[in-house]
Formats: sequence, structure tokens, C-alpha cells
Amino acid sequence: MSKTYKIAVLPGDGTGPEVVREGVKVLKAASSKFNFKLNLTEYDFGGDRYLRTGEVLPASAADELRKHDSIFLGAIGHPDVKPGILEKGILLKLRFDLDQYINLRPVKLYPGVETPLKNKGPDDIDYVVVRENTGDLYTGVGGFTLKGTPNEVAMQTSVYNRFQVDRCLRYAFQLARRRNKRKTLALCGKTNVLTYVYDLWERAFHEMGEKEFPDIKREYYHVDATCMWMVKNPEWFDVIVTGNMFGDIITDLGAITQGGMGIAAGGNINPEGVSMFEPIGGSAPKYTGKNVINPLAAICAGAMMLETLGEAKASKAIENAVMDITASKLKSLAAGKMGFSTTEVGDLVAERV
Ligand code: IPM
Ligand code: MN
Repeated sequence: MSKTYKIAVLPGDGTGPEVVREGVKVLKAASSKFNFKLNLTEYDFGGDRYLRTGEVLPASAADELRKHDSIFLGAIGHPDVKPGILEKGILLKLRFDLDQYINLRPVKLYPGVETPLKNKGPDDIDYVVVRENTGDLYTGVGGFTLKGTPNEVAMQTSVYNRFQVDRCLRYAFQLARRRNKRKTLALCGKTNVLTYVYDLWERAFHEMGEKEFPDIKREYYHVDATCMWMVKNPEWFDVIVTGNMFGDIITDLGAITQGGMGIAAGGNINPEGVSMFEPIGGSAPKYTGKNVINPLAAICAGAMMLETLGEAKASKAIENAVMDITASKLKSLAAGKMGFSTTEVGDLVAERV
């Protein structure tokens, strides 16, 4: 009997629904080819719903989503809603409530895609960033005193406990082993300034590596140097592991080296629970409804979702289809410059799958 996966689909804001439509098209093509079933349920969480109802996320959302095998998300962010409300109230809240403690962000340059890095090609740019996804400056620990006065104080604190660090490191070590590429895990930190938080990370890193992963080579880079080497020598990297804030920043840099937000996908992963896959680029409201946005990031997020669900062959087929069209069809990955519409790009990938 073929397997059925219950997928919650959250198209979200802006161009989210357009890219999700193409992602779903490709997932459906993969399901008929590879003999599994998809049971899709759509949820309207996002800016429009918030403006209509005043509620950011229903209290039942996390429990409702937990009943699924996975979540497929478009984008969150609405031009008429103050920055922070939807991002914190939907995206970060789901990551936290569902304890999606890994944010997995592959940085892989596909054939035919232009990179701003001089003299670098697909052989040089192929690594994965494991961004811790539940701690750090994102926990909301902090506050104001004397707000609005000349003596106002604002504080926001990076928070990590050993458990969070260990579970993230373990995932990253295991990934380096599974990839079986350079068998190298690089810790990205700032041990020269953040002498508490990244001291904890560094000790945990070496202790775990020594005991459980002697086959994996360990490297350490400060975050500023990481940025430099991601530009100058991206071929050094295999798996990079880092905290939430640095991970957020370096993965935008990584994304631009792989061709930009049109192609960059990520997974918010709870290895023991329900994960959520998304294009990492945001809602790009100015392109909404124009059928010009690049759906490949969403399509790649769908491929990551299938891989995590255990449908490795279907996932690989989607990735191969994407590589085929970046190599032979698309003029550019930028919105409006692909030489094809959003829908046509979805069709091209679906046909090849
Ligand atoms: C990302 C985004 C989010 C983050 C924002 C929208 C809260 O930048 O997924 O990288 O900071 O994690
Ligand atoms: Mn980000």
C-alpha cells in the first residue's frame, strides 16, 4: 500500500500563495510518479487574516499543525502590518511551539546559475548551514527601562542552555557523517567577545566531537571570518553549525552566493516531531499577483520536505529537475527576468519530475 502524508499548507502573504501553488504542483507530480499520496489541508495564517480578524494565530494552531506529517509554508510578512507582529506571532511562534530546533539551510549553486563569487562554480559552493532555531537573541529575553526618556535602556540577551546546544550539535555532526563529503563540521561563533555563550558552544562541540564523532573533523571560525571565507573560499565548507542569530545572518549571505532568494530553501526541523519547510526569501509584496516571482525556492523547500519524510528518490528527482531547468532554460533567477512566468517554471519542473 502506498503511504499517505498529511501536509499542512500555509501559503501566507504576498507572493507566498503563488510560489506555494507551484510547489504543490511539483509535489503532486512527484507523488504520482513515486507512488505516495498527499493529503493537503490549507490554513490561511498570515497578514490578511490578521487584518480581518485581529488575531495573529489561533490558539489552537500548534496543536492543529501537530496532527500533520509536515508543514509547507509560503511566506509571512505584510506591508500593512508593522514589522515584527507576524514574524514573531506566526513564524517564530510556530518554530518555538513545534520545537523545530534545527533550521537547515543548504547553500548549493546549481548549474547555469550566476553567482556573484568570482571564479566559483557548482563544485565550489555546496555546503549546509545548521542554524540553531530555538534560542539565542530570539528568545525574547530582555526589555526596556525608562522607555521614552533620555535615559532609556534597552536590553536583549542571547540565551542558550547545554541541552539546546547539544541537540543541535549532534544533528550537525550526524549530517556531516551522512553527507560523507569532507566529513568536516565547522562551528561558527564569536568566542573572542561572546565569552559565555560561545564558550559553552565551543566546549560542547569539542566534547561531543571527541567522544561521539571521532571520524568528523572539527573546525572553528569566528562569525566575521566565516563571512569572509564564505565569499573567498566557499569550497572549504561542508557543514557549518551556529547559533540562531549568526545563522540568520550568514544564511542570507549564503543564499546570495547560490543565486539569491529565488532559489534558497530551508527547513525548520524537529527530528522527533513536525517540521516546516519554506522558501527563505520572504513575501516580496511588490511582485504579488504578477506571476513573475521565482517559485524554485518553494519547489526546493518541497524537495527538502520529501527527503525528511523519507521519500529520498522523489526529492532527488525534484532537485534534478530544478538543476535541469537552471542549466538549460532559465535566463536568470530574479523575479520577472526568468524568461518564464511563475506558473511556467512550475510546469517545467513538474514535467521533468
Ligand atoms: C528567516 C527570517 C526570520 C528570522 C524573520 C522573518 C523573523 O529572517 O527565516 O531567516 O529571523 O529567522
Ligand atoms: Mn533571515
